Amino acid sequence: MTTAPAAAPTFAKGLVGVVAAQTGLSSVDGANGILTYRGLNIHDLAARVLYEEVVYLLFYGKLPQKQQLAKLTAELAANRKLPKAVLDHIKAAPRKATPMDVLRTAVSMLAYYDKETEDISVEATQRKALRLVAQFPTVIAAIHRARQGKDPIAPRPKLNHAANFMYMLHGKVASKLENDAMNLYLVLLADHSLNASTFTSRVASSTNADLHAAITAALGALKGNLHGGAAEATMNMLLEIGKVDKVDAFVENAFETKRKIMGIGHRIYKTGDPRARHLLEWAAKMEHDAGKGQRYVDMALSVERAVLRQKELYPNVDFFSAPMLYYLGVPTALDTCIFAASRIAGWSAHVLEQYNDSVLIRPGAEYIGSKSEVFVPLDERG
Ligand code: COA
Repeated sequence: MTTAPAAAPTFAKGLVGVVAAQTGLSSVDGANGILTYRGLNIHDLAARVLYEEVVYLLFYGKLPQKQQLAKLTAELAANRKLPKAVLDHIKAAPRKATPMDVLRTAVSMLAYYDKETEDISVEATQRKALRLVAQFPTVIAAIHRARQGKDPIAPRPKLNHAANFMYMLHGKVASKLENDAMNLYLVLLADHSLNASTFTSRVASSTNADLHAAITAALGALKGNLHGGAAEATMNMLLEIGKVDKVDAFVENAFETKRKIMGIGHRIYKTGDPRARHLLEWAAKMEHDAGKGQRYVDMALSVERAVLRQKELYPNVDFFSAPMLYYLGVPTALDTCIFAASRIAGWSAHVLEQYNDSVLIRPGAEYIGSKSEVFVPLDERG
């Protein structure tokens, strides 16, 4: 009996429709616009938990009890400081360096100083992951200060994660509204299934590379404006549009000239991103609080309506994050770093998951080059 030859694997451009990992961390239902973290709907978590609770949930599988949260909070507070060499690197970076480049280099440097860098056991990786969660805001705030020619601000152990981040960014304790807004942002972006940067972290860790290596790789993937760079690009677009009454012409022109509207559209969500409505609500609160006659939320809503007149595309997580971060006093150039300060939890949890059931991630490629070239020695090449 002859067996039929196995069908050749089919090429999927952009891996569209390919399921490349199993995960118990977050699930994204694109058709119905549902996001869960370990089975908990994001709508139940938003504005009701601290980012620290989400870190615990992702790392250890359940929301923490009070004592567990207190222990994790203390561990984070104890690990926020940076080695002097890393702070010196941040201060010495060219003023015009892209913040994501400085962050990526600083995180790579942190590997020199972590006593467990090469240990990829689950226990050591969990400890390193907590250290990175603690260190990211300190690095990002130091980058922000250095870009203004200012010294970094030492962390305050008594403040929670979001409040301490705001304090280190701006040099004063922020209002409850601002701290809650930053916390909500960190909660909403903590994990998102197999997005491009998370996939990158899993590919790197599938080779048995350590956590710092995987996170440095993920930071590289986050930088682009089709992924984490979209909030910065959205805010720059809103600033470019300038006035609400210019939105319609801008959007029409963008579709005519095939220019993408940033913060709009999603590979998986086709009926809307569930995170967007929370960010809209809080961006509107921030705008109201700012009270300076600024109208970036109105403008964003006008963009949303104008886009929908052209095509069924909805705002993604970055769309309303852009004005919200703007009202939190975050310069647009820093937006992607703030995204990273949240996603460090998800990346680390995926690396842990990858180590737990690891197989080298190494897909094939369909060769489309020439198949029958004749070799010509160097001296004979015309
Ligand atoms: N502006 C204008 N047109 C867009 C668009 C946008 N932001 N997003 C998608 N489209 C168009 C595509 O060009 C495509 O048009 P076509 O059918 O004429 O070729 C159509 O809508 C369907 O696109 P889709 O296949 O759903 O997009 P994708 O899955 O390949 O890409 C993104 C998803 C996120 C890369 C894409 O929507 C995008 O570039 N958005 C802007 C960047 C952004 O906000 N990124 C953050 C994502 S969280």
